[in-house]
Amino acid sequence: MTKHRIALIPGDGIGTEVVPAARRVLEAVGARHGLRWEFTEFDWSCRRYLSQGAMMPEDGLERLREHDAILLGAVGYPGVPDHVSLWGLLIPIRRAFRQYVNLRPIRVFHGVPSPVRGAAPGEVDFVVVRENVEGEYSEIGGRMNRGFPDEMAVQEAVFTRAGVTRVVDYAFELATRRRGRLTSATKSNGIVHTMPFWDEVVAERAARYPTVSWDQEHIDALAAKFVLNPARFDVVVGSNLFGDILSDLAAAVAGSIGIAPSANLNPERTHPSMFEPVHGSAPDIAGRGIANPVGAIWSAAMMLDHLGHTRAAEDVTDALTAALADGAALTPDLGGSAGTKEATDHVLELMAAAAR
Ligand code: NAD
Ligand code: IPM
Ligand code: MN
Repeated sequence: MTKHRIALIPGDGIGTEVVPAARRVLEAVGARHGLRWEFTEFDWSCRRYLSQGAMMPEDGLERLREHDAILLGAVGYPGVPDHVSLWGLLIPIRRAFRQYVNLRPIRVFHGVPSPVRGAAPGEVDFVVVRENVEGEYSEIGGRMNRGFPDEMAVQEAVFTRAGVTRVVDYAFELATRRRGRLTSATKSNGIVHTMPFWDEVVAERAARYPTVSWDQEHIDALAAKFVLNPARFDVVVGSNLFGDILSDLAAAVAGSIGIAPSANLNPERTHPSMFEPVHGSAPDIAGRGIANPVGAIWSAAMMLDHLGHTRAAEDVTDALTAALADGAALTPDLGGSAGTKEATDHVLELMAAAAR
């Protein structure tokens, strides 16, 4: 029996619906593969903020640190400003735990209708590697002259050589293990300091990966190509903001942002990594039991993989793939009528059937 301590942070809105779904899948796959889960559930959320004045307790990061991995739903809800909720929980975890790689895979599954004409099932399969701790997400800047005609806001972006190099290296290495293609998202025609620097680092590092063929695309043109020809991509590396936007776009190309998973990785494993669906708390559908659990379940599979349980991870992704293909796990965002529970039940049934 391998024991793992997992911190669960369901968070807000549909986070509290999809994390229990992922937990059920982890319990089932764990029983089959000799894994013992020790889950600790934390109620850190906007609800906590409103009743106790903080998204998490002061020693929150220390408490998380004792875990092998973190599974998070989503944070942020109307009533608490987003910069308060996200900078009070999600972003401090990514930064304190040096989760500088955010891996966001995308696949067009059989049985899932894509809104994009050329996106054939099985042909679109790529990964967005998002820089996750610096770049455009910075606290440097300020608001001035509030309420006056000369009011202004300034927001700095911070790109360090070490920070760009490590994420770009991760992306190139990933490309060597996949189909050997890398695309770097840039905007060096319009953003004249940080983006030319990003491009220089990418070109320098590329020399170390002769088996990878790479190119760079301006983010605007790249967004168009995601829609016009998504099958051409293998690994796409981008800054914090570009990677954020591209991953929702890619998820939509694959049918819904409800299916996209992510892994916030600390590659050196000095700190726990965090796994979460790409989507947010979806206040518009929260509480109705119709949230798509696939993004959260697939994120749990990425967690299994990270913990070294490759076969267990494959069992989960195989069951997800089959459950989407036969249509019984399609939630309303994918044009189906399954609820969160029915979709999860179906994944569990197919996992059990495959094990027999
Ligand atoms: P969102 O992802 O919550 O929702 C966007 C749209 O996608 C909505 O129409 C929603 O119903 C739909 N959607 C999202 N996930 C779905 C799922 N699993 N199944 C079916 N439909 C789904 O994005 P938003 O509206 O920009 O953000 C809402 C809140 O969530 C905000 O407070 C935002 O800051 C926060 N947020 C948090 C995270 C996170 O914790 N990692 C990520 C994104 C947004
Ligand atoms: C995500 C989210 C977050 C981000 C927000 C909620 C701060 O959109 O995880 O993709 O931009 O990183
Ligand atoms: Mn996002």
